[in-house]
Amino acid sequence: MYTMSMGKGLNLYPLHLFLLLLLLLLLVGFSGSVDRNNFKTCEQSSFCKRNRALTPGPSQYAVSPESLLIEDSGCKMDVVNKKTGVVLRAELYTLSDNMIRLKINEKSPLRQRYQVEESLVGEPKRDKCRVQRSSEGVVVTTETAEAVVNFDPFKIDVSINGEIAVVLNSRGLLNIEHYRAKKLPVPTETHENGEEGEKKAEETNGANEEEKEEEKEEEKAEEEEGEKEEEGMWEENFKSHHDSKPYGPSSVSLDVSFPGVEHVYGIPEHADSFQLKHTNDGDPYRLFNLDVFEYELNNKMALYGSIPVMLAHNWSKTIGVFWNNAAETWIDITSSTANQNILGKLMAMFKSTDEIPQTDTHWISESGIIDLFIILGPRPHDVFRQYASLTGFPALPPYFAVAYHQCRWNYNDEKDVENVDRQLDENDLPYDVLWLDIEHTNGKKYFTWDTGKFPNPAEMQNKLATRGRKMVTIIDPHIKRESGYHIHSEADSKGLYVKKADGSTYEGWCWPGSSSWIDFLNPDNRKWWSEQFTLDKYEGSTLNLYTWNDMNEPSVFNGPEITMHKDAKHYGEWEHRDVHNVYGMLQHSATYEGHKMRSGGRERPFVLSRAFFAGSQRYGAIWTGDNMAAWDHLRASLPMVLSVGVAGLPFVGADVGGFFKDPGQELVARWYQAGSFYPFFRAHAHIDTKRREPYLMDEENRNVIREALRLRYKLLPYWYTLFYQSHISGLPVARPLWLEFPRDKNTYNIEDQMMIGSGLMVRPVMDEGANYVQLYLPGSSTLWYDYDDQTAHNGGRRQHVTAPLSKIPLFIRGGHIIPTKQRVRRSSSLTLDDPYTLLIALDAQEKAKGQLFVDDGHSFDYQNEKFLLRDFNFNGNVFSSKAGNGSGQLVTKAWVERLVIIGYGKKPSSVAMKTGGNTEELRFSYNDNAKVLTIGRPGVVISTDFTVTIN
Ligand code: NOJ
Repeated sequence: MYTMSMGKGLNLYPLHLFLLLLLLLLLVGFSGSVDRNNFKTCEQSSFCKRNRALTPGPSQYAVSPESLLIEDSGCKMDVVNKKTGVVLRAELYTLSDNMIRLKINEKSPLRQRYQVEESLVGEPKRDKCRVQRSSEGVVVTTETAEAVVNFDPFKIDVSINGEIAVVLNSRGLLNIEHYRAKKLPVPTETHENGEEGEKKAEETNGANEEEKEEEKEEEKAEEEEGEKEEEGMWEENFKSHHDSKPYGPSSVSLDVSFPGVEHVYGIPEHADSFQLKHTNDGDPYRLFNLDVFEYELNNKMALYGSIPVMLAHNWSKTIGVFWNNAAETWIDITSSTANQNILGKLMAMFKSTDEIPQTDTHWISESGIIDLFIILGPRPHDVFRQYASLTGFPALPPYFAVAYHQCRWNYNDEKDVENVDRQLDENDLPYDVLWLDIEHTNGKKYFTWDTGKFPNPAEMQNKLATRGRKMVTIIDPHIKRESGYHIHSEADSKGLYVKKADGSTYEGWCWPGSSSWIDFLNPDNRKWWSEQFTLDKYEGSTLNLYTWNDMNEPSVFNGPEITMHKDAKHYGEWEHRDVHNVYGMLQHSATYEGHKMRSGGRERPFVLSRAFFAGSQRYGAIWTGDNMAAWDHLRASLPMVLSVGVAGLPFVGADVGGFFKDPGQELVARWYQAGSFYPFFRAHAHIDTKRREPYLMDEENRNVIREALRLRYKLLPYWYTLFYQSHISGLPVARPLWLEFPRDKNTYNIEDQMMIGSGLMVRPVMDEGANYVQLYLPGSSTLWYDYDDQTAHNGGRRQHVTAPLSKIPLFIRGGHIIPTKQRVRRSSSLTLDDPYTLLIALDAQEKAKGQLFVDDGHSFDYQNEKFLLRDFNFNGNVFSSKAGNGSGQLVTKAWVERLVIIGYGKKPSSVAMKTGGNTEELRFSYNDNAKVLTIGRPGVVISTDFTVTIN
């Protein structure tokens, strides 16, 4: 429990401590599971309630035709609310690479609305298009896409290759609550009856009957005009918290339908299924970065991060929508059939059934504008590239960061660190990074050390570095308000903190007790933050020290919903309400820049963040927060990892072992097996749990964990190549099966299996006592090979796999070449010069392809062409290794040790290698049972072009 550790390092007066403990007890509850009362339901969030109450029907908005302004890349038009007369400005643009952007803002707002720029890498590039007036509206056409705008009622149909893919506002749920002047309250004292006027007026109802009628009429008219004032518009209370809402209601909402689509994914973060569910029977999915203590599974409640990106997938296409809004957001999902309208009838004519499924979504945000990107694919790979061109391609992590991380709250002191490091080595358990949680600081003052426990931090890091290892320390965004603490003094005197609604400094409670929060919205503050990471400023740091940004939703223990008050003020006079979901990402970005800065821009950063938003992929990794050491949490980790991945953020993992509670050894072992296939692979545990480092397990479980770690390390060349591919393509590293098999309908709701890149598929064992799994091998024409015994299996069918504790059900996909390094050392950087073994898994045509990316693993030099991209190809008995498209140069000693050709039909008579003009016979062995041909020691350096011919 958080409570038990709170007193440590705090200099609090007894009363403060008591209040804090009381607060935390309330916060965590006594139940050991999430206290739902701490978090709002849609009903308790007035803007959600108001928008959800709208009834579908023809839209109350219409375009005023004379306002239409045609441009090279789209058009602008006024959209008028027919009830209130309020005028909106809509802009519809075609963007390069098959995307469309719709922006809707108030034409002349009383107050500017926040437009999120932090998520985007720049102003998206517009594309030329044809814009034509039609009798009903306007049609915007590109080579592949078309947007048909109907003027009255306002509605947009977007099609790709002639098929309608997305319909906007077809259910008429577009709603912009315009900024308005607050009406003066009707003074009850105006009744001549004096102080008790109201009451008496009620009693003398006969005399006031007329007035009452008038009031009712007025209310009715207001309601019709959409001007009715409702509770929660001008102030809102939640538990003991008050939101002053000085600017009144400001929500925006729109319905987005996907005709022909039954399967939608994304909008992380939720502890729920991968395939998104309907929301008719409860609350919508909520996106509002929150620190949720002991979160519940199968729940649409908000969690630590928010990416408002949804993918809609069917047999013929994958489409994405990106709702670029950083305010609290709710998303309803329902389904209908598209054949109630002409479109449906038309589509139905060409299908065997007369009902076309349709997924309807309704997006509701508390403030900001509507800024909707329609990402038209149509193949899944296209969607990831297109989305990344808007919000950035994922950062290329340093090599070590892709390896295994050993974390715990807390490793207590330098002796402890030394001990853990030594025991991992003694037990032959490879690891790359040792993490220090909040207790390493002097009284939760970040950028400081508890010098009693860590007297020589730099020396400690240097010692780890001798074995190629790194260290991570935690740096949260809340700053202890303690005089003399250099970070606080500077932040306070320079005015770097978020402000309260009244302009004074915002204060709240977090780990250190009374704290204030850096206002990361201000670019100057971000720069200041980055500077704190320079080696001279961050005492005791070295270039081998990396960073973990936690609690950056931000978590405020005594704030509403454990976060910051929405009426708090940021740079530019923006309310916290407008920017809440980008706050954490901005800290992440400033830390990332800090890492770059401290090495003069040479070294690639590694920063883990808990909060995230669209764009966070540019800065590093995220993890799924405080999970539980329970089998269902292990199972939940896969859909969570997949959801974050399909929303464009590939570097994600869950705490291996589970954060809260003590896992049994079997759970730990099985979790390591699953975790070794998370893109971000870190074990972590709460301060009150028993120690559970892998060397503490009994022999059987220790061996299982060692093998899982060794497998991760052997596969690191493949993982790292995937991260590089993700860096240039936007593709996730851990992928849902449908991404690789978009036409195999059996894959659409699979969430206990993952593709790792396009060549490996894993189905970890995630049930207690289980010794087998049932899995699906996708692709009816695909061959699959069991990773362990290389037995071949046909795809397009279910498969029973026996899986005793030592087994991870893992398959290589025929047609793929997996680069590995079979020698495992203590840490990944020690393997730099080690040789490669290529696993060549043949498809039914005896062909295979693969790639390898190699660079120095830590610097930005790859951007100056200091890297190798090798293309491997096996075709017609010839294997070749060639420089891939765009490959640079790199001096390396790493060489090719072995080719393992899986699914090779017969024993060859000879094998010859050709490099340049030289030909050389190679030794080989053939396993007739397994159909595996192993070719030994080509011996060439990996940068060499060579071919191997099998006779
Ligand atoms: C909350 C984080 O989610 C957890 O991982 C960490 O150990 C604690 N904060 C303490 O820093």
